[in-house]
Order: sequence, then structure tokens, then C-alpha cells
Amino acid sequence: MEPALRRAQARLEPDAAEMRRMVDAAMSRIIDHIGSLPHQPAGPTRPPAEAARAVRGAIPEEGRDLETLLDLVFDKAVPESFNSAGPGYLAYIPGGGLFHSAVADLVADAINRYTGVWQAAPALVQLEADALDWMCTMVGYDVGGTPRPGGILTSGGSIANLVAIVTARRARLPEDFLHGVLYASDQTHHSVAKAAVLAGFPARNVRSVPTDDRFRMDLEALRGMVAEDRTAGRAPFFVVGNAGSTNTGAVDDLGGIGRFAREEGLWYHIDAAYGGFFLLTERGKERLRGTEAADSVTLDPHKGLFLPFGTGALVVKDRDDLVRAHAVDADYLPSQPAEGEFADFSTMSPELSRPYRGLGLWLPLQALGVSTFRTALDEKLDLAQVVFTGIQKLPHIEVLAAPQLSVTAFRLRPPGLDDEALDRLNERFLAAVNRRQRVYLSGTRLHGRFALRVCILTHRTHLERVEMCLEDLQGAAEEVLGAITV
Ligand SMILES: Cc1ncc(COP(=O)(O)O)c(C=O)c1O
Repeated sequence: MEPALRRAQARLEPDAAEMRRMVDAAMSRIIDHIGSLPHQPAGPTRPPAEAARAVRGAIPEEGRDLETLLDLVFDKAVPESFNSAGPGYLAYIPGGGLFHSAVADLVADAINRYTGVWQAAPALVQLEADALDWMCTMVGYDVGGTPRPGGILTSGGSIANLVAIVTARRARLPEDFLHGVLYASDQTHHSVAKAAVLAGFPARNVRSVPTDDRFRMDLEALRGMVAEDRTAGRAPFFVVGNAGSTNTGAVDDLGGIGRFAREEGLWYHIDAAYGGFFLLTERGKERLRGTEAADSVTLDPHKGLFLPFGTGALVVKDRDDLVRAHAVDADYLPSQPAEGEFADFSTMSPELSRPYRGLGLWLPLQALGVSTFRTALDEKLDLAQVVFTGIQKLPHIEVLAAPQLSVTAFRLRPPGLDDEALDRLNERFLAAVNRRQRVYLSGTRLHGRFALRVCILTHRTHLERVEMCLEDLQGAAEEVLGAITV
């Protein structure tokens, strides 16, 4: 054998000692990294373009030493980011990065079995199907009933929303579907409007339904919009309810929208990407009443179950709706499971080849048990109340959204400033909190006003960090308010 080929083969297939050395090298850095999360700056420390340019490099012709590469990743690239796995990340919608899932992903990638097609790995597919059945049951579907509920794992909530719209379009509209109209509140995540366009609808077919002072969909307005579209000869077919909006965690009247959707023959989708897993708690179950009425529900295990980014889910009341929207035959594929008992993900989703996401979900659920997640999510609801109570003690504070789940939104509102000046003041307030680097918050606009928000979701955020957050809000408020009175 040619020396170059022998060398290439040896590099492509490390022996047992080399595999162990590689994993050990990565693992010692991972353990140090995870241990240091609470002490790392909560946000970025230099301009993003500078950070990106500092690591830019060409792909080499010859391989480089693994240790050097891991050093580059851990020392130069990782520190230049939001500390999104750390306890102080209270911005946007936090994720987490459960270590059990990381172990599962290593296993899944190393075994590299084919889970796109049921026949290729029926037992591995079954583990994923079990996790999906558990989520179906959580939203209130009867997995033993008719129709048979089911679902798929996706890369995240955006793709789950896209699959929901495509599935609804196939179920409710003819092939010529351009007169179909979709309804979402003005608080619905932008991935729904994006998905509608990707699914072939003109952007103008997505109606933005106004919300009340708690950011919940105005059902009367929805009713009026649907009636108006019908009168104009258009075809209302899809409505989405928020089970925890991104901006404020607002929960729509899920039961009320469900009843209206049924009367009108609309496909009812619930976006529970952020809020869905609070269904595991008693308080969440109460606040999210009505999910069982939905034809489809988006859930994001990489949010509410603390998984690493890359696992979302869509569950549907009737699994056959997914199949009708996605199944396309090909001569070279093995036959589908004959028994309705089993699921073949290639016939239910846009993907054929796919990562084995199921293990990253199934393994932590099995290893930790549902009660672990329930307890942790209950803690997040408690912490949101601590934030809510603490924030009200700040000077000149206006709470714009009390927590319906685990988001609180607010702004400073000293007297004598117009809307424009208030927005600028609150942008400075946000910057002053984040400059302290113990927590990282994000801002948004709520019914036109710039607001700060605190969103608590990761398994690493506990009371101690929330107290730091309140201290930094106090310090930052004094700083920016002091500057305007000078
Ligand atoms: C309510 C809601 N829906 C959908 C999404 C999109 O999810 P992903 O980022 O997983 O694509 C998000 C993301 O934050 C969200 O908060």
C-alpha cells in the first residue's frame, strides 16, 4: 500500500488508544469549561467582527495536532460569545446544554446508525418514538387513541413551525393554495411568518392579530379578520396560538382559540417552543390549559428541557397528516413499516438522512426522570416571581409584563421624558446592566416601547444569580437615572 494511503487510512480510523486520547483531551477541556461557566463574563467582551477576524484561517492541506485545535476552540473562539450555557444568561430564550445530551450526541455520532428510515434501525427509532409519545401525552393527546398522534424531532422551533404550516396547507387547502390565509398575533415568533413565506404564501397572507395589554391575542379581532377574509373570497385555514411568547412569555387563550378554530374549520397550531415544557408543572398545566385542542404543537427541548441547541419537535394530533404532507415513494428505499404501531421519520418529515437526535432527548429523560425536569421548571417559575417582586423595588420602574411563565419585561419611566427619550434611557439601562457582566439581558419593543426583559430558563440559573441580577439592575438604574438629573 502506498505510504500516503496508509497514512490517510490510519488518520481516518484512529485505534482504541488514540480514540481514548482524543476524548480525554476534549473532556479535560470540557470539564474545565463547564466548571468555569459561573465565573465567565455573561456577555461578549469585544466587538464581534474583531472576534471573528482573530480566528479566521484557511483549511490546511496537512492535518494539525488535535491539542492545538482544541486550544484554539476553547481559548480563542468559545470565550468570544454570549455565555449562553451559563447561569447569567437571561436574554432571548435561554437554552442550557445538558451534559447527558452531550454524551448521547457523542454516542449517536460515533455509532452513526441510520435513523431516517425505520427498517434501518427500528429499535433506535423506537427510543426516539417513545420520547415523542411522551411529548404527545404531555400536550394532552391520547397516544392509544384514534387518530394516532405522533411527531418528529427537528433542528428547532423554526423548522417545527415550517413543518406545521406545510402539513396544514396539505390538509386544508387545494394544490392551488395562494388564497390561503394564516393568523398569528403581533407577539408570535417571526419564524411563523418566515415559515409561511417558505411554504409558498405571499407575506401579505399572514395576518397580524392585535394583542391586549397582557400581550394575548384579541379573539374578537381574530373573529373580525377571519370574517372579513371570507367575505373577500379568501380562504382562512391556519391560526397559531402562543403558549409562551418570546417577548413576554404571554399565553393566549388556548382553549378559546381552539373553539374558534373548530367552528371555522381552521388548522390550530400552538407555538409552545418556549413555554411548552412548563406543562410538566402544576402551575404550567393550569396556565397552558387547552393545548390538547391543537392540531399541532411546536416544542423546543433545547429550551424547556435544557438540551444543547439543535433539538426541536413538532407533535400532531393525527400522525397521518404528517405522512400525507411528506410521504413520497422511491424504488430504492426499503418498504415502510406495515404496522401502524411504528413510525418512519422519512415519511413524516422533510428529512431523509438526519442526525440521531432522539438519543439526546431519550437518554436524559431516562437517566434523570421526568420529576427532575418538573422540579427544575418549578424553580424557574419561582425565580420569575423573585424577579417580579424585586424589580418593583427599583426607582421609577414600570413593569410592562408580569410573568405569565418565566419572563418579566419592564422599563425605567422617570417623569418628564417623552417616548423617544425613554427609549434611549432604557437602551442605556440595558447596556449598563450588561456591562457588569454578571447577567446578560436582551431588550425588545412592546407595543412600540423599548423594554428590558429577564427570561429565566436554564438549569444553571438559581436564586443566587437572580439576586445578582437584581443588584445589577439597581446599580444600573441609579447610574442612568443619576446621569439624567445631573
Ligand atoms: C415562541 C418561539 N417560537 C419559535 C422559536 C424558534 O425556535 P428555534 O430558535 O429553535 O428555531 C422561538 C425561539 O426563541 C420561540 O421563542
